[in-house]
Amino acid sequence: MMVAELKQQVLMQKASSTRTMKRISNSFHGTSVGFVPTMGYLHEGHMSLVKQSLSTCDHTVVSIFVNPIQFGANEDLDVYPHDLEGDIEKLESAGVDVLFQPHRETIYPKGFKTYVQVDEITDQLCGTSRPGLFKGVATVVLKLFNIVRPQHVFFGEKDWQQLAVIETMVRDLNLDISVHRVPLVREPDGLAMSSRNLNLSAEDRQKALSLSRSLEDAKEKIRQGTTAASQLKQSMKDRITAESGMQIDYISICDPISLQEIEEVKGRTLIALAVKIGSSRLIDNCIVKD
Ligand code: PAJ
Repeated sequence: MMVAELKQQVLMQKASSTRTMKRISNSFHGTSVGFVPTMGYLHEGHMSLVKQSLSTCDHTVVSIFVNPIQFGANEDLDVYPHDLEGDIEKLESAGVDVLFQPHRETIYPKGFKTYVQVDEITDQLCGTSRPGLFKGVATVVLKLFNIVRPQHVFFGEKDWQQLAVIETMVRDLNLDISVHRVPLVREPDGLAMSSRNLNLSAEDRQKALSLSRSLEDAKEKIRQGTTAASQLKQSMKDRITAESGMQIDYISICDPISLQEIEEVKGRTLIALAVKIGSSRLIDNCIVKD
């Protein structure tokens, strides 16, 4: 029997307290531990991170924690989708070793006062319209790293800026952790997979396709020789607002590392956007001239 098959027959361990999770981490001493932090309602995008961890590491830990401090006051914390049973089934059949699913009070006990702030790269893109987002993300991710103590962590390029924040934090705080970047996974029609897609009506789901299509259009224009970022942004904007009820948060054409806006597309460039459709805010991105 293959190791993977054997693994699938071993029950996934579950931890909700810091103590239990640390005890399990200690028992993995001397082996390589991969970690995939998530907020649950798992889809194939999440599972591609999990698969990469399973194939890279001896043990894989996945966390499910909807982190309240990364949501703004008027954001979707209360309606964030969840399906714990479905998630457990997916993780168990993939062969994940441990699910860490802490309670809010476990992560933020009374008197909690310490936060992680990554400067500069958090000032653009999603950081502008969601001011506390990356402080919340960096704080919870560092806490989870300290509890799980992985050598390898896996993050999706779907959240490009989040990845940049994590890489910067790991470098700046001298964490002995390798950050693995996992490509964005799309639905067959091009929509970037997201737990938030669940909250879209059928009509809005259709409108949401304009995000990935506007990125494809921009790529094509660049292939044909357009370099002016302003021109590319305008045609993306036109394409998206051709649908009713679309509220563009940002369209950014920027350096993929510094996230600084650029005026001319010359070398490797990130095109990223965030759009509100009804009450859902969706993000998408692509790299051009790779
Ligand atoms: P969540 O949105 O659940 O995403 C967890 C991980 O899955 C992130 O690294 C994200 O980039 C990745 N992911 C989501 N959709 C993806 C897709 N379509 N293709 C590839 N990867 C995808 O991101 C968070 O949770 C939180 O901010 C978290 C890091 C857990 C901190 O609270």
